[in-house]
Amino acid sequence: MAPPDQNPSPAPARRFDAVVFDAYGTLFDVNSVASLAEQLYRGQGEALAGLWRRKQLEYSWLRALSGRYRPFLDITRDALRHSARALGLSMDEAAEAKLMGQYACLSVFPENLAALREMKAAGLALGVLTNGDPEMIAVSLRSGGMTPLFDKVLSADQAKSFKTSDTVYALGPAAFGCEARRILFVSSNCWDAIGARWHGFTTFWINRQGAPLEELGTEPDFTGALLTDVLAVARG
Ligand code: LAC
Repeated sequence: MAPPDQNPSPAPARRFDAVVFDAYGTLFDVNSVASLAEQLYRGQGEALAGLWRRKQLEYSWLRALSGRYRPFLDITRDALRHSARALGLSMDEAAEAKLMGQYACLSVFPENLAALREMKAAGLALGVLTNGDPEMIAVSLRSGGMTPLFDKVLSADQAKSFKTSDTVYALGPAAFGCEARRILFVSSNCWDAIGARWHGFTTFWINRQGAPLEELGTEPDFTGALLTDVLAVARG
């Protein structure tokens, strides 16, 4: 019989207790609404999709700043109505319903599922921390086939505010029972990666489009182009 190992080498300490992802823009391609928008408003699809996203975020920041919370789905609708008006597009109820419906089944970036599965297989705890309200994010995750991959899905709705409020980012460490720096927070929204870093997370910016860094006096800890780039860092 082989003698018992007197000095078993300890499992290498991991740098992170969890990897937590932003949802819209990071897991889901918010610009995938552009093709439907283009079918409805020829020549204006890109403009409508772009303005819709910018207004959605602007309304989230304004409402957080002034303590006037409304669920993200509602402000997404408000942003759509304003954007259509601003571009001079007439949007009837049917068109609005179609565009809002598209938000429930946004495309998932091609590499995401494989990257998430690999992180899960490496034994990492995975989470989502999103502005999306619980029903909205549940529908999106289900339609993207991602529901079983996440240990925790955290919604800003629990804090009745939006990113970059500290109360929203605080949901991460509270849910995973660890310090913020032991969570790798992944977002393709540079402002969100920086907001999370302000809160103390270690952050990874997925810069798919080669966008310039936001001028906010702080940089994300890591930057890559695809979700697969997160793996090496997450394994720590
Ligand atoms: C989210 C926004 C930032 O998912 O897209 O939280």
